[in-house]
Amino acid sequence: MKVFKTIHQLREHLSPLRSQTKIGLVPTMGALHQGHISLVEESKKKSQFTVASIFVNPTQFNNPEDLKKYPKTLESDLAKLSEAGCDIAFVPDDSEIYPRKPEIKIDLGPITTELEGKFRPGHFNGVGLVVSKLFHIVQPDLAFFGQKDLQQFYVIKKLVTELNFPVELHMVTTQREANGLAMSSRNMRLSADEIKEASMLYKALKISQNMLLAQSDIKEVKAQVQELFSQSERLELEYFEVIDTSSFKPLLKVKDSRKTAMCIAAEIGSVRLIDNLLLNS
Ligand code: PAJ
Repeated sequence: MKVFKTIHQLREHLSPLRSQTKIGLVPTMGALHQGHISLVEESKKKSQFTVASIFVNPTQFNNPEDLKKYPKTLESDLAKLSEAGCDIAFVPDDSEIYPRKPEIKIDLGPITTELEGKFRPGHFNGVGLVVSKLFHIVQPDLAFFGQKDLQQFYVIKKLVTELNFPVELHMVTTQREANGLAMSSRNMRLSADEIKEASMLYKALKISQNMLLAQSDIKEVKAQVQELFSQSERLELEYFEVIDTSSFKPLLKVKDSRKTAMCIAAEIGSVRLIDNLLLNS
């Protein structure tokens, strides 16, 4: 696996490959786990050449403390990518991506202020900015994102549609621990007991999926989830919503099950966890 730190090196390497090869891009912020690696594996199945980027993007952090605390494990990340058969790791410094404070603003509209957007103002527009940059830098044919961050996927889908990026987007299913907890770099900060308790997010999603498929009312489903979380001393439910994936607006009634998802966020200690399930999954 080749490791490049500059845009120039990366472009020089990719340029002769472009005409005969489909290039897949897997954007990440590092602290890699099996969830990230599954994106690399999917890219390897669908493209002939895989580029993974590792860049902790400052413009998507609304809280400077979170940015400072973000885990950095470059050496083991590179070992995992190489083992997975990734062809290139692109690991730019901040100054390579943002040589000066960006003055351009990307605003992807109302979808960015629902759910996660309410808790993290500006977050999705920062994601939109860095993903636009990565798409211009790498010019991939395909790009891979996790269902774990469902709203992010739909924000990027909007970006690709509205700015006509010639990139085929792929959503990869969420990788989970044996107890159902979605893999996340934040899980490193949980104790063994907290990991056990945090499986309640997935449990709530499964219960709500079964209830909705059995035609239960969304109000009833929400009450059931709240009741479940009220039994936990450590978990604080932030939101549970049944949403339409085209807008991420909470629904009062399921209209089209193919576009319906259940999204949840909860805090345990100081760790914030999110998860989701598509109703028809
Ligand atoms: P990061 O949190 O590092 O995630 C990188 C990619 O891995 C995202 O597409 C995310 O959805 C996916 N991912 C994380 N956990 C997963 C899991 N358990 N199963 C499957 N996929 C999973 O998301 C970001 O970085 C950034 O916002 C980024 C898109 C790189 C822009 O900075």
